[in-house]
Amino acid sequence: MSVTESARRGFGIDVGGSGVKGGIVDLDTGQLIGDRFKLLTPQPATPEAVAETVAGVVDHFGWDGPLGVTYPGVVTTDGIVHTAANVDPAWIGRNAAEVIGGALSGQRVTVLNDADAAGLAEERFGAGRGHRGVIVLLTFGTGIGSAVIHNGALLPNTEFGHLEVGGKEAEHRAASSVKEAKGWSYERWTKEVTRVLVAVENAIWPDLFIVGGGISRKADKWVPLLTNRTPVVAATLRNSAGIVGAAMAADADVTATAE
Ligand code: BGC
Repeated sequence: MSVTESARRGFGIDVGGSGVKGGIVDLDTGQLIGDRFKLLTPQPATPEAVAETVAGVVDHFGWDGPLGVTYPGVVTTDGIVHTAANVDPAWIGRNAAEVIGGALSGQRVTVLNDADAAGLAEERFGAGRGHRGVIVLLTFGTGIGSAVIHNGALLPNTEFGHLEVGGKEAEHRAASSVKEAKGWSYERWTKEVTRVLVAVENAIWPDLFIVGGGISRKADKWVPLLTNRTPVVAATLRNSAGIVGAAMAADADVTATAE
């Protein structure tokens, strides 16, 4: 039997603004087993339309075990969606796990915030590996997502992207979409990112920040320009972090129920 065949497997799906991506995850290494598969996010991204797309990704792999799915807003542990800053407002008040489960054939579904999923994966298998203490992951994209992890345990649904910083919501000040919209240089944008990091570090005193999102690929251009006090490192799992973290959350749910 090959290493891959003997791996403890999980399955994760990352629901983003443009794509719904999934893959089989080796839960012991955080590596994907085989390729990712992506379908375009339906527009409008209503709950039922997204659920059908998630089902399409699950079917592609013929996966019939438990799965984790990310959502780009607040999802409390009872599965209820509470915010929809950058997605269709029809999600608010819906039970995300039930809606997605309704399009599948009985697989158990765990839904969690997208940044929380990325944080779980980065802390364990990525840039946070080997670090102890409080880690804050921030993702910079259309909005700003956040995750707080303390020695492997996630404090879910922190929403630092919506903190008011200098009279403005953090994500309206420093998301990477703001840099694009304003045509800012890295130097100009990094000033705003520093303000957000300082607001967060004054409130929670993390030991490490991990910065993710597409713009973290260019981290060498801007992370050295930050002037906040907490060390900052770039995410390393790139676009598999959400998939891996979702699979980890589903696995933790199954384990918790079995105990
Ligand atoms: C949402 C967060 C989400 C982040 C990234 C924010 O607008 O409020 O829940 O994690 O965008 O998608």
